[in-house]
Amino acid sequence: MDVETMKKLAGEKAAERVKDGMVVGLGTGSTVKYTILKLGEMVSNGLDIIGIPTSKNTEKLAQSLGIKLASINDYPEIDLTIDGADEVDPNLNLIKGGGGALLREKIVAHASKYEIIVVDEGKLKDHLGGFPLPVEVVQFGWKRTKLCLEKLGCKAMLRTKGGAPYITDNGNYILDCKFGTIENPAELEKRIDEIPGVVEVGLFVNLADEVYIGKKDCVKIMRKI
Ligand code: A5P
Repeated sequence: MDVETMKKLAGEKAAERVKDGMVVGLGTGSTVKYTILKLGEMVSNGLDIIGIPTSKNTEKLAQSLGIKLASINDYPEIDLTIDGADEVDPNLNLIKGGGGALLREKIVAHASKYEIIVVDEGKLKDHLGGFPLPVEVVQFGWKRTKLCLEKLGCKAMLRTKGGAPYITDNGNYILDCKFGTIENPAELEKRIDEIPGVVEVGLFVNLADEVYIGKKDCVKIMRKI
């Protein structure tokens, strides 16, 4: 069975947790896409929810499916968010931002009473850091910000798209930082956040409540202890 099927299994299973009347954070990426497609189906069968999208792409997809949407400013408290991740460690800490939506995803995760992460089993790691850590930075002085990040022990690369810098939904750049094994995600998150020019870092520490893991023929659920 291929990765896509594992993503679909996890994404669709998590949609079962969405109930009538909920305000639901809608994550970004190729796994949570399956959750959103399922929610679209459920809405057309009468489910009544309000979705809070974490990116322009997700907003477009949800709108096309007829899911009612609102801004986080209208609903600063969210019942449940379902989102993807690039890496998950055994403590349910995450690396996110492979799709560039980490800032909005983190604001929405922080505002959520409950956060469910959907991944294929390949995203489970003993330690975070194999996947380059995305850091969203303001354009002004980004080379200085890069230097400061590298002093923390990584090699940072400006993300590009079609030969030009990749621009986030918030008008910022992304630096993908190769740290290798991250021993203490909470400490690293704090140190990165202290650098002027950093808008947000793709380390999500203590924000996920459950992870739905798509495997060959089932979905395994990991819960925060
Ligand atoms: C978006 O910026 C990311 O945080 C995604 O949630 C993450 O990259 C997972 O995406 P996939 O499900 O496409 O791997």
